[in-house]
Amino acid sequence: MNWNELFKYEENRWLAPAQLVLDSIELFKNAGVQNILDLGCGCGRNIIPYLKNGFTVSASDISEVAINAAKSYVLEVCNSDEVLFERCCMTQLLFKDSSFEAVVSISVINHGFKEDVLKAISEINRVLKVGGFLLLTVISKEHITFGSGQLVEKDTFITDKGIDAGIPHHFMDELTLENYMTQAGFHIEAMKKCGIKEIGGINNGHLCVLAKKMN
Ligand SMILES: C[S@@+](CC[C@H](N)C(=O)[O-])C[C@H]1O[C@@H](n2cnc3c(N)ncnc32)[C@H](O)[C@@H]1O
Repeated sequence: MNWNELFKYEENRWLAPAQLVLDSIELFKNAGVQNILDLGCGCGRNIIPYLKNGFTVSASDISEVAINAAKSYVLEVCNSDEVLFERCCMTQLLFKDSSFEAVVSISVINHGFKEDVLKAISEINRVLKVGGFLLLTVISKEHITFGSGQLVEKDTFITDKGIDAGIPHHFMDELTLENYMTQAGFHIEAMKKCGIKEIGGINNGHLCVLAKKMN
């Protein structure tokens, strides 16, 4: 399965915004955030609350089907065509340096090999302004699927089952993620275990990080 295939099915489209996104709105408002990038926007569920709260939102995803679904969803719910959408890979973002005061990426950057994860974190750092926020979730080694499928490098598996079949997942623990983030120039403000809605219900095997770009 690839992302375009996956999003062709309505049941694979998540529409309710992530609670973490709703919780970030006050923080972002108080910090004077204006421009937000939703990296790996999927079908657009997390764009909506930011738009409704007056932020300027850009969004990117590797899947054309997801981008088109997100465009329609934003138009339908917010009657807005003001979101700048770019179809691009997380390892090569089509945005200029220092474009955003916040980047939000929910359940995206772990979809790859370690090298992809590191490049994505570095790209996020590049497009953020100094002092900008990164709100990120990744899959953790406590996730129920850790260890299943084919081991393709340390902590990276490709399963041949379910909707994730064929898609690599790089699993992280707190220390690994902290290292990845600090090496890329982020200061971690908070890290916690969290649940993310998946097909079949909430799964708790994720990590959520709020970080700031240092310089
Ligand atoms: C699990 S979905 C999450 C979507 C969205 N963030 C949400 O919370 O609803 C993962 C998303 O990451 C996107 N994605 C996967 N690999 C990517 C990559 N290399 N670059 C950009 N986006 C990617 C997929 O197309 C998909 O939309």
